[in-house]
Amino acid sequence: MALKVLMVCLGNICRSPLAEGILESKVDPTEVFVDSAGTGGYHIGERPDIRSIEVAAKYGLDIGHQKCRKLTSLDLDTFDQIYVMDQSNYENTIALAKNKQQREKVHLLLNEVPIETKEVPDPYYGGKDGFENVYRLIDIACEIIAKRLQNKP
Ligand code: 4NP
Repeated sequence: MALKVLMVCLGNICRSPLAEGILESKVDPTEVFVDSAGTGGYHIGERPDIRSIEVAAKYGLDIGHQKCRKLTSLDLDTFDQIYVMDQSNYENTIALAKNKQQREKVHLLLNEVPIETKEVPDPYYGGKDGFENVYRLIDIACEIIAKRLQNKP
């Protein structure tokens, strides 16, 4: 059975759809299932933000088919590993956990990366540059995660 990885941000339209598409592109889909969700419910059913779709397309990824959904407590039962973009996502996700085992599934995505920044900044109210920066940060983290998940050096 495939390992289930969930990417979480606030809106599920900017950062976590990119994280879903990027990690998915780096793993074998028979081994790893990737999904994303948001802690807020502002955009349920919507496609990713056009700026995320555009930056993904620039790097050869199509994320336009994704649809926004809200994180639920069921996700903490279902998924094996949950990566959140920032501290606020972390707190909102942990709040849905029933026990220690579920809390231990939740990690800041950038904890995987040996850099100072531990949060993927929310690019929603900024310009295109913010999306480029977010893409690069998520890509570095997903490269490390994908290698680890697939036991590659
Ligand atoms: P995301 O960005 O959490 O990366 O999807 C946001 C998208 C929408 C909102 C906030 C953040 N919003 O407030 O609608």
